Amino acid sequence: MIPKETIDNIFETADIVEVVGQFVSLKKSGSNFKGLSPFVNEKTPSFMVSPAKRIFKDFSSGKGGNVVTFLMEHEHFSYPEALKWLAKKYQIEIEEKEQTPEDLALNNEKEQLYIIHNYANTFFKEQLNQTSEGKSIGLSYYKQRGYSLNTIEKFELGYSPEKSTAFSTAALEAGHKQELLVDSGLVKANEKGNYDFFRGRVIFPIHNLTGRVIGFGGRTLRSDKKTAKYFNSPETEIYKKSHVLYGLYNAKNAIIKQENCFLVEGYTDVISLHQAGIENVVSSSGTSLTEGQIRLIKRFTKNITILYDGDAAGIKASFRGIDLILKEGLNVHVVLFPDGEDPDSYSQKESNSVFRNYLEENKKGFIQFKSEILLSETKSDPIKKAETIKDIIVSISVIPDQITRNVFIRETSQKFDMDEQVLLNELNKLLRKNAYGKTSGYIPETPAPKVVNVQKLKKNNFNELEFQERDLIRLMLMYGDLGIPLEIENNEGSLVEEKYPLAQFVIEEMISDKLNYVNEDYQKIYNEFLDALENDLILNDQHFINNPDQNLNSLVVDITTSKDVLSENWIKKHNIHTKTEGTQLKKAVIESVTIFKLRVTENLISEKQQQLKVDVEEENVFNILKDIKQLTNVRNIFAQELGIIITK
Ligand code: CTP
Ligand code: MN
Repeated sequence: MIPKETIDNIFETADIVEVVGQFVSLKKSGSNFKGLSPFVNEKTPSFMVSPAKRIFKDFSSGKGGNVVTFLMEHEHFSYPEALKWLAKKYQIEIEEKEQTPEDLALNNEKEQLYIIHNYANTFFKEQLNQTSEGKSIGLSYYKQRGYSLNTIEKFELGYSPEKSTAFSTAALEAGHKQELLVDSGLVKANEKGNYDFFRGRVIFPIHNLTGRVIGFGGRTLRSDKKTAKYFNSPETEIYKKSHVLYGLYNAKNAIIKQENCFLVEGYTDVISLHQAGIENVVSSSGTSLTEGQIRLIKRFTKNITILYDGDAAGIKASFRGIDLILKEGLNVHVVLFPDGEDPDSYSQKESNSVFRNYLEENKKGFIQFKSEILLSETKSDPIKKAETIKDIIVSISVIPDQITRNVFIRETSQKFDMDEQVLLNELNKLLRKNAYGKTSGYIPETPAPKVVNVQKLKKNNFNELEFQERDLIRLMLMYGDLGIPLEIENNEGSLVEEKYPLAQFVIEEMISDKLNYVNEDYQKIYNEFLDALENDLILNDQHFINNPDQNLNSLVVDITTSKDVLSENWIKKHNIHTKTEGTQLKKAVIESVTIFKLRVTENLISEKQQQLKVDVEEENVFNILKDIKQLTNVRNIFAQELGIIITK
């Protein structure tokens, strides 16, 4: 644990121009530095570093953030690794936080567990290669599966003897403590004494990202059904299953080079693919795929290709995987194998070139994949078609980036020959539900329409709403602490002009009208402003830029460095010259808040109008019409106010 003060010290000391300059050749350009993007191939520089804001922004790849983000992106460091790298460079001593006896014990236990796993790994390898039981049973099994000696060595495969105390006796004799052996899961103890967890199994060690062994999988060699085919180590202090991927240690460089990661089901698939010359492959052995595992892959690539077998279970798992991957903002493709084959068996059966061709030719985007699977039996059934489209839109709705979502909506619209706007409306409904569901637990009470009959909206209000949310957040980030002159009632009840922090003004406007943001990232930023305000603090962009939440800091850099802001159009347009010129800022923020409210109202109106299309009960219709009338009045008031603001 690096103490917070040390982290702050590192952030303060690190010179982003100097650090980035170690990897990218930079040239001064105005108050910034420019260079060729280190993330994509390009001829004209679109990569910039701002020493004043202590950020970098790559307009080609969209990446951006602080000095630590840069090291994480460029060097694939973890957060603590990046901090340690900087600390070393700037000779900042990292005095790990004074450790409590519990901390010490935990670290000590972890270290001991690594040592035991390393010992066990050596033991299982020796059993495989140097004992007659290992050779005749284990080694011949691997050979029969088609594994070369080279492969066996590369994956450090082993064998656990039939004798039930083979490992525990050896480990105790070697001086390992009984208690820790039990903690590691490798030794079990009952009233009769110790016995080994893995017996008569071939052993697949599991490595962490630095190559240390943290657990094992063991496959039985018996073909009877009396015992589970695979045993896997239990979770321990060093093996958290949801954050480990089998094969990642051996795959990471190939993943970066190939800009893709193949995701398979298990140990045997990973190993066989390596033998077929495909090294960018990992598996989530022993658990179903988790968010944590996808984030691990995200450190190395943005592209994942799922390779599962084509049976019902494989398809179900791949559907689940698709949504998880999309949710993390990654691209996903799927390849299914012929009936009865998995990547392991198929790669062993076919030659390397046939196998690679198969992957190329059967690689499908998630829209194509889902629609083929879902429509495979009943192509012409319109209800099935509608369900399929909805299913696909659910997947699209979890994608965090709006532009990407819209690209996929367009693809779906072309594929199914459906009006794009209709699909967008469906998408927006889901997005709103997601957003409300997460931020306030409040879902607007729109009755679920019985018939899909979506009216074509004149404009895409939702996107405009999100755009407006972004504008408000940007104002708060860039000018939140600047004062805007407002007339405020003082103690005596008379109006006096007072400078009011912009962020506080926006927050109070939001609260008084019980408004929330639809976009959950913006809501997150807003919530932080809100929390800080309760402690009389006004945040600014630097607060987020130095935030350990890398997604958040990238987003903030994105918002505050979008092209129009950089070119200072916005500032010019609103005539903001100096920090003291609050009047223009006041106009700008009131305008932004009013447009936001206008958009929210417009959204509500079109929601009601949709309702009208599906609800035919007289009383409801009457009420809806009444609501629409009221909302329209409100809308008109906002529009009028806006007219006044703009022409003033
Ligand atoms: N797997 C697992 N636990 C199980 C079954 C499978 O963890 N109970 C994982 C393993 O990582 C295995 C992969 O899923 O490598 C593929 O499963 P399967 O094909 O059933 O295992 P194989 O060892 O290839 O068995 P077989 O020779 O019957 O194909
Ligand atoms: Mn298999």
